[in-house]
Amino acid sequence: MELGQAIRTRHSVRAYLDDDVPEDVLRDVIDVARMAPSSSNTQPWHVAVVSGEARRRLEAELVAEVTEGVKPYPHFQPGGVGLFGEYKDRRRECGLGYYDALGIGRDDVDARQRIALKNWQFFGAPQVLFLSMPAAFGQVNGLDVGLFFQSLMLLLHERGIGCIPQGALAQFPGPVKRIAAIPEGNEVLCGLSFGYPDLDADINTLRMTRRPVDDVVSFTR
Ligand SMILES: Cc1cc2nc3c(=O)[nH]c(=O)nc-3n(C[C@H](O)[C@H](O)[C@H](O)COP(=O)(O)O)c2cc1C
Repeated sequence: MELGQAIRTRHSVRAYLDDDVPEDVLRDVIDVARMAPSSSNTQPWHVAVVSGEARRRLEAELVAEVTEGVKPYPHFQPGGVGLFGEYKDRRRECGLGYYDALGIGRDDVDARQRIALKNWQFFGAPQVLFLSMPAAFGQVNGLDVGLFFQSLMLLLHERGIGCIPQGALAQFPGPVKRIAAIPEGNEVLCGLSFGYPDLDADINTLRMTRRPVDDVVSFTR
């Protein structure tokens, strides 16, 4: 797949088939993604993959925390902090587009909560991975991990593997650190549910819009 085509056709996948992605495929993909650039070549990323019985236990523990009303306790500042104006509008549009695609009314709070819970059920994906970096690291190191992350998602996409990045999976790090093999001293930045996409699922036809190119660039001579 040509790079531009891969970038244009990747999208978040929210319904999956049951089959695991073989470990050697994941190793190959991560072997390429690790070539991402990083500040002073520090390569602060770590990937912890959770499958099978461990994945089932993790889902149960995360869903228990969420439904018991535990307040989120992410280590790193989550994505929604500091949003204003047009950024808040886009977040709202993103949520509404998602609920509309599922046929959920905008005021149907129960259905929206049920759908939100799918985050901690990994959207039915058979596997999930967690990106972590040392706890003391800051924004630029997070950018390094982000570069690795996009490469990883595109490489999965190239092989017909779908995925969805999930900040929600950094909100309750207790179960994640108990079950996934997160290196000592690291904290979770983001999760990624992944697997082979269910191509019959309506939700997988959802495509989010983007700002026009002239809105995101300025040229000065
Ligand atoms: C860092 C990051 C965190 C995200 N967290 C979530 C999440 O917790 N739950 C969710 O459903 N989608 C999440 N997303 C997916 C975004 O909503 C999605 O990427 C965006 O709407 C653009 O859609 P696309 O990925 O289909 O192009 C996240 C994306 C990124 C990059």
